[in-house]
Amino acid sequence: MAKRVVLAYSGGLDTSIAVRWIQEEWKAEVVCVAVDVGQDPDTTPDDWDTIRARAMAAGAIEANVIDARAEFASEYVVPAMQANALYEGKYPLVSALSRPLIVKHLVQAARYYEADAVAHGCTGKGNDQVRFEVGTRALAPDLEVLAPARLWGLTREDSIEYARKWDIPIAAKKGKLYSIDENLVGRAIECGEMEDPWVSPPDDVYTLTRNVADAPREPRDIVVRFEAGVPVSLDGVEMPPVELIPALGAAAGEYGFGRIDMVENRRVGIKSRETYECPGSLALILAHQDLESMTVERDLMREKARLEPRYAELVYDGLWFSPLKEALDAFVQSSQEFVTGEVRLRLEPGRCFVAGRRADHGLYDYGLATYDAADSFRHEDAEGFVRLWGLSVEMWSRRQRGLGSGA
Ligand code: ARG
Repeated sequence: MAKRVVLAYSGGLDTSIAVRWIQEEWKAEVVCVAVDVGQDPDTTPDDWDTIRARAMAAGAIEANVIDARAEFASEYVVPAMQANALYEGKYPLVSALSRPLIVKHLVQAARYYEADAVAHGCTGKGNDQVRFEVGTRALAPDLEVLAPARLWGLTREDSIEYARKWDIPIAAKKGKLYSIDENLVGRAIECGEMEDPWVSPPDDVYTLTRNVADAPREPRDIVVRFEAGVPVSLDGVEMPPVELIPALGAAAGEYGFGRIDMVENRRVGIKSRETYECPGSLALILAHQDLESMTVERDLMREKARLEPRYAELVYDGLWFSPLKEALDAFVQSSQEFVTGEVRLRLEPGRCFVAGRRADHGLYDYGLATYDAADSFRHEDAEGFVRLWGLSVEMWSRRQRGLGSGA
């Protein structure tokens, strides 16, 4: 059994009692690591101080908060956006992207504190346990992975009682309805009445997106610039991805864009009704994909489109650190060399769409595309090309369908 454990700590009820539970049941020391991936837009350093103090009050021998926001934006969110990664065609992987980063920091802390295990607070029904455990095996196969919440069989009421018994100052209230996971690209909201897929999510579950009825009536244009596939500025103001993504999200969310209501397939075989709001990542993927249509050569674009759903599945399924994912990253990276230019997004109540684009090294050629006098296309080349293109079909028609002379 492990002697010292690094626990992925969120400050919530489950991970707080896990600190005490691991000590009591497994007689191991607990180091808490909380990773800031932009959980709450209103988070202040004070909140993290409270969270750190709570970990210590629960009995941790050490508690650290790691600000990983910039790393999360640049090394996790941006590569996934370059892959236009949408799980089952819809979900931009909000939670799935943060877990491998948390794992990376847990493993680093485990090395630093000479721990022999890492632990997480996930239950047995979700994807996050898969991401924590498979990710840890990939980075540190020698470390044990402990999942106390999968074993303890405590109801929510039991957990609150356990916290009270051990004087753990938790913020959780009885009767809390939703399970929420959030970071700087968005939020995932589960449980409560939404477990009935027929029932609409209540308005008050959303914090990043307005109701369409409350959106500004006046449309707004916002210009996103990309350099080699990396978003670098909004309306000409340069900023790093860690600022740009939430800023774009705030603009799009104000117009009520970015909500997703879907039934998705979890890795563990369960169909699950999920409610998300991710205005920033959806707007960014929209813009990015459009700029690719101007700049990426046809065959490369088609092959990339074929691989994108696979990329999203790998990330969703906890295989961020895996050989196929690494190889796909290399492919995606190589496809981004000329994805440089600007996309003008238009925001209107309830929607966000591309209203214009221009590229520094675009493959769009006005002379080839135009029907006016500037036309430079060699029309005479088309005749032979089209004839040969259709030659095999023509032979099939003549010889096998019995049409024409058979010549
Ligand atoms: N279903 C989503 C996913 O698997 C969201 C998970 C949210 N996690 C949570 N602990 N509430 O990526």
